[in-house]
Amino acid sequence: MSEQPEQPVPPVAREIGVPAMALIVLVGVSGSGKSTFARRHFGPTQVISSDFCRGLVADDENDQSATPDAFEMLHHIVGTRLRRGLLTVVDATSVQYQARQQLVALAKAHNVLVDAIVLDVPAELAVERNATRPDRDFGPHVITRQHKDLRRSLGKISRDGFRRVHVLRGAEIDNVTITLEPAWTDLRHRTGPFDIIGDVHGCSSELETLLSTLGYQDGRHPQGRTAVFVGDLVDRGPDTPGVLRRVMGMVEAGTALCVCGNHEQKLVRALNGRKVRVAHGLAESLAQLGEADPEFVTAATAFMDGLISHYQLDEGRLVVAHAGLKEPYHGRASGRVRAFALYGDTTGETDEYGLPIRYPWAEEYRGRAMVVYGHTPTVEPEWVNNTICLDTGVVFGGRLTALRYPERELVSVPAEQVWYEPARPLAGPPQRDPAALDIGDVRGNRFVETRFGGTIRIREENAAAALEIMSRFAVDPRWLVYLPPTMAPPETSRLDGYLEHPAEAFEEFAAAGVTRVVCEEKHMGSRAVAVLARTPEAAEKRFGVADGGAGMVYTRTGRPFFGALMGELVDGLRAAAEPLWAELGTDWLVLDGELLPWSAKAESLIRGQYASVGAAAGAALPEVVAALEAAAGRGLDVGSTLDRARRRQDNAARFRDAYARYCWPVSGLDGVRFAPFQILAAEGRATAVHQPHDWHLDLLARLDSPLIGPTRRVYVSLDSAESRDAAVAWWEAMTAAGGEGMVVKPVERPEGRVQPGVKVRGQEYLRIIYGPDYTESLDVLRRRFLGRKRSMALREHALGLEALSRLADGEPLWRVHEAVFGVLAMESEPVDPRL
Ligand code: UTP
Ligand code: MG
Repeated sequence: MSEQPEQPVPPVAREIGVPAMALIVLVGVSGSGKSTFARRHFGPTQVISSDFCRGLVADDENDQSATPDAFEMLHHIVGTRLRRGLLTVVDATSVQYQARQQLVALAKAHNVLVDAIVLDVPAELAVERNATRPDRDFGPHVITRQHKDLRRSLGKISRDGFRRVHVLRGAEIDNVTITLEPAWTDLRHRTGPFDIIGDVHGCSSELETLLSTLGYQDGRHPQGRTAVFVGDLVDRGPDTPGVLRRVMGMVEAGTALCVCGNHEQKLVRALNGRKVRVAHGLAESLAQLGEADPEFVTAATAFMDGLISHYQLDEGRLVVAHAGLKEPYHGRASGRVRAFALYGDTTGETDEYGLPIRYPWAEEYRGRAMVVYGHTPTVEPEWVNNTICLDTGVVFGGRLTALRYPERELVSVPAEQVWYEPARPLAGPPQRDPAALDIGDVRGNRFVETRFGGTIRIREENAAAALEIMSRFAVDPRWLVYLPPTMAPPETSRLDGYLEHPAEAFEEFAAAGVTRVVCEEKHMGSRAVAVLARTPEAAEKRFGVADGGAGMVYTRTGRPFFGALMGELVDGLRAAAEPLWAELGTDWLVLDGELLPWSAKAESLIRGQYASVGAAAGAALPEVVAALEAAAGRGLDVGSTLDRARRRQDNAARFRDAYARYCWPVSGLDGVRFAPFQILAAEGRATAVHQPHDWHLDLLARLDSPLIGPTRRVYVSLDSAESRDAAVAWWEAMTAAGGEGMVVKPVERPEGRVQPGVKVRGQEYLRIIYGPDYTESLDVLRRRFLGRKRSMALREHALGLEALSRLADGEPLWRVHEAVFGVLAMESEPVDPRL
């Protein structure tokens, strides 16, 4: 029998937990093994060492003269990471109070927790290890001094402000396991659905009614929904113990969550025998709990004491906090965060009732997460920048309100009576100032996330140009909810005599898998967006414009049409839109169309640019032709020159005819027509996104008014040669009769980077664009570059749909404008204006 080998000494197992999002400060003398430890337990980018920073600023990790700069660098990097919410480990000796203090302050400034891990190794061991390190050529006295600093520190390090100090010694250092503990606020894995319930304040009976209205049966929802209480369960109302009992039971059963309100915080202090001022309904709670079973009171006290400041839910898309929470505080932990979540921010002033004036953080909120809160009793819950306050003052005789999430539906039940007289009247809906758009929202390089074309970059210089237009020429920004995208032509035609032809458009869509397209007559007027409200009241409610106007019609750069005639134009269009209100169940609409005639908006352009060319050619060419004819009569060989001059004379006449067709005199609105081709959005629906083109055209064809012009169209089955030929014939006839051309759009939008539509312009119309004699130089013109125009068309289209979706979803104006502004900014990118 062989002898058993000697059992190794069991390792000293040690487990420590650190917050998953925190600053971790390693503490230990040189050679204590900090870098080795950090490498073993954390990712390379999570560890910021003083050596690394010394290298960054001095190209030499041992250059001690660079130490101040290196630490400045280290603090900067650490601060940046903490602001962005990343776990960060500082690898420096940190044996002196001063050094630790700076790091603790940095963590607190960013509202993150900070832990210390001390590697307490004997000085001799560190000296011995360093002796073999070529990069540590300092004498043993350095370590002796550091070791002395550490010994002095260890006695009082627990008072440095660390959440926890983990001291590791001997074999523990090698055998420790580190667990990352999620923050208490982090319930991002809970995706709902939720029913978020506003301030209850002891109104037990109303709470029971609300819960059953929401579908809960004895604290449990048959569809597995979770109730989330925004806090202030207690005080003022008739049955605080009843409310606590219900909510505690649900939280324990896992069917509810509850964050802490300021009233719970104060009640706990009172129950724990701390001195508090008994006011604001605290007396009622204390009296009611005085009657209750002491065991229940103990449990309730523990429950309230354990409530945390806020929750992040649904992958971070939802934040619930009693008094709301600004974005940099989401998921953070500090006294400051808790105070904000429980009490909100105050301006430091008090109102005429002696109560603090609350700082309107929601108006400045630009965060991505929805923030649902309570705390401020209001008459009517209202969305402000993706935040909503659910405190509808049930205890003051108002209502108890819940928000269904993700449905965004409000459900409320009335108070059974006034249970408590308010110290000040309930606030009306928060007064938002929709015109107060923050310039910071649109300035500089920006990235706009769209659901239709990824993230789109807006360059700083383009943003500046757009800002100029917006601020100087545009309509009241509250109307500016959409700008139409540019549209590209198809690939240049290979057919003789044509620069553009339907064949390439059909080819392009067929190749993208489209089976059916619609060819719409392209009007030669000015693109116009019409925002229309059924009544001035609807305009005020939806767009916040309270000047009695009920709509606006503006150009593709956001400028108003006609000035003085605007009211008349809007009223005419509203009357024409009458059939749509009921059909779409909306009291506002955004229409995309063309305003005719061209001369109504572009008269000076026509006079200055086109008419002068036409007139010059008209005056000069007959003389040239006459002179050449005379020369030919004298027997000179001018044949080819004469031919060319005659062609040019002919071209010039066609050029004049071409633009003249799009001009007709108008008097007032007489002669003005609006030809709509898309219903962009209505209440709750971005119809431009969700409806196929035939739906739009069919609905719009029902509008009957002298102000409305028709948009002629043909549908094409791309797999049928006859169908294509018929459309080409239609296009040829239309353009031969002076039409500008047509727009080809897939009836239903396919997946992928496919143009939303292309314009196929007629031969004669292109004469206005490329000059009277362009047909003489088609070879050169065929080399035109389309790539940029086509890419711009895609990006602008994505931004436009994004703006409409945000509008229809009821998102705040700045979010809508972010996308609208992007279209305007993109328009100042240099592209060939003839495309
Ligand atoms: P480290 O380089 O990890 O120490 O180890 P440190 O605390 O970060 O030192 P400073 O502050 O940057 O100067 C120092 C030496 O000790 C060895 C390492 O391989 C390295 O050569 N070491 C570390 C051990 O031998 N055992 C250990 O458990 C840890
Ligand atoms: Mg090191």
